[in-house]
Amino acid sequence: MRVLGIETSCDETGVAIYDSEAGLMGDALYSQVAVHAEYGGVVPELASRDHVRKLLPLVNEVLLSSGTSADQIDAVAYTAGPGLIGALMVGASTGRAMALAWGVPAIGVHHMEGHLLAPMLEEQPPEFPFVALLVSGGHTQLVKVEGIGEYNLLGESLDDAAGEAFDKAAKMLGLDYPGGPEVARLAEKGDRKRFRFPRPMTDRPGVDFSFSGLKTFTLNTANKLKVDGVLSETDRCDIAAAFEEAVVDTLAIKCRRALQQTGFKELVIAGGVSANQRLRDRLEVMVKKERAQLFYARPRFCTDNGAMIAYAGCQRLMAGQSSDLSIQCQPRWPM
Ligand code: KG4
Ligand code: ZN
Repeated sequence: MRVLGIETSCDETGVAIYDSEAGLMGDALYSQVAVHAEYGGVVPELASRDHVRKLLPLVNEVLLSSGTSADQIDAVAYTAGPGLIGALMVGASTGRAMALAWGVPAIGVHHMEGHLLAPMLEEQPPEFPFVALLVSGGHTQLVKVEGIGEYNLLGESLDDAAGEAFDKAAKMLGLDYPGGPEVARLAEKGDRKRFRFPRPMTDRPGVDFSFSGLKTFTLNTANKLKVDGVLSETDRCDIAAAFEEAVVDTLAIKCRRALQQTGFKELVIAGGVSANQRLRDRLEVMVKKERAQLFYARPRFCTDNGAMIAYAGCQRLMAGQSSDLSIQCQPRWPM
């Protein structure tokens, strides 16, 4: 089975072709970061327009680079939600139209299922069952995964997502959007011991998260240190380091609990924040102590991409699922 996957839920246009025998055959990604950077965040209307401009050229590029002709495509998968509704509609209507023209099924994929399955694209993929930590700009969830479509939510953020917290902390430190990688870069130069930020909700049982207090703590720390409204480079680096330590520690504590709670021996991390090196290093240490194993995707497949949608679509197709002609995008959609 060969599936063309389309991702347009936010500010990346992603297209890929995944084949159940040959694996990933082609993958192209266009990032709109430059379009939104001057606004300090994603502008939904501009995102939709840019997806319209880029999607078909990317489809062409992937068909060509993978040596695939349209008649070799068995289905078209597109992200049906959650995400920005206008942006989703671009991928959904284009994907649905191509499927109709080619006479193949279309499959609406849940964006977070795409993220969750992205580590399956790696050479040593995880095996079911596993615990998945989904950490993106919009979600922070711990999920018990027993197979394709067998997902049970163990815990989630009650307010901000981890990536959102990274992005907000970045703004406070005067960094560009998207802030996560920028905060990580500053943190590398910082003194991780100078400040101790709280590890929210780790003093009580359970695997839910809360990151909005950490954001306020970061702001207050920054405001106290400012001289004439300006933070020194040292202070910025030290705050970034303290913030990153707090998020990473909190995620690691909850992941350990989720492993202990389920008795599972595999932990998968996925979504944009799973690209964070400090998080990966900390979790490697933790899983070793738990006699478990850690899995993640290459950085390119941690953030939004078409490959994860092609892969998830292919699994759904092989399970006999597809979507009808109606296009139903859901900006909010529990997995
Ligand atoms: O999964 P993703 O690309 O999009 C959503 O589905 O939200 O995640 C984007 C999020 C952003 O908040 C970004 O700042 C964060 O992932 N991120 C990182 C890193 N790379 C991306 N956060 C921390 N460290 C990173 N290296
Ligand atoms: Zn995403």
